[in-house]
Amino acid sequence: MQNQEKIIDMFNEIAPTYDKANKILSFGIDASWRSTACDLVLKNYNSSLNIIDVACGTGDMIKAWINSAKKANLTINKITGIDPSVEMLKVAKEKIKNCEFIESKADKMNIPSSTQDILSISYGIRNVVARTHALREFNRVLKIGGYLVVLEFTKRQKSGLIAKIRDFYLHKILPTIGGMISKNKEAYEYLPRSIDGFLDSNEFCSEIKNSGFEIVMVKGFSMDISTMFIAKKVKNI
Ligand SMILES: C[S@@+](CC[C@H](N)C(=O)[O-])C[C@H]1O[C@@H](n2cnc3c(N)ncnc32)[C@H](O)[C@@H]1O
Repeated sequence: MQNQEKIIDMFNEIAPTYDKANKILSFGIDASWRSTACDLVLKNYNSSLNIIDVACGTGDMIKAWINSAKKANLTINKITGIDPSVEMLKVAKEKIKNCEFIESKADKMNIPSSTQDILSISYGIRNVVARTHALREFNRVLKIGGYLVVLEFTKRQKSGLIAKIRDFYLHKILPTIGGMISKNKEAYEYLPRSIDGFLDSNEFCSEIKNSGFEIVMVKGFSMDISTMFIAKKVKNI
């Protein structure tokens, strides 16, 4: 499945059960991956800021930004959620108020240039077919010195027992349980395929650097199941 519209349709179909499946399949650990990323980046700020969350889905990363900002006593001037799936946005709008949601793909956002302090995309960039265009778009909307925060399941680089367990979980357990909850096994078979078809950490870092960013931190969570990339915009491209 590479066709962008097919991928978006698939998210429209699983939207009503997405949060429930996500909670069960990640054992809720994703909340700590998200808050670690937000806490680390917000440490660099002491005044109010504009945040945009791309591929926001049902809004869990937006919730993480709001909670971390509260903890850090920081004011969010404006937070915007972007996603092309109407059904995912519907769930997000019910969960989160005080956030502007825009139905849009990552590679062409209706956001003025150099206006955002932070842009995040969690478990979304893998689904963006026009990825290099999207990275250029992220550069465009961020201010110089602004932060790009990506959480993603990258293609594995290591072999060994842990990698084998991860593969078994992703290819066998996840599609079965995800399929049962969503009644859409195909969507949860797409997930491991999309991870295998994505880049490894080093390859993705190169793409980020080629888009006018400098890498600040790359960190693997929970035996490298999930990887966090933090990068800083150093130039307009
Ligand atoms: C796995 S979900 C992640 C949602 C959310 N960020 C989270 O962390 O739970 C992937 C999201 O990417 C969105 N998506 C797919 N293609 C996209 C594109 N071209 N641009 C932006 N978002 C896209 C989907 O609609 C879906 O909501």
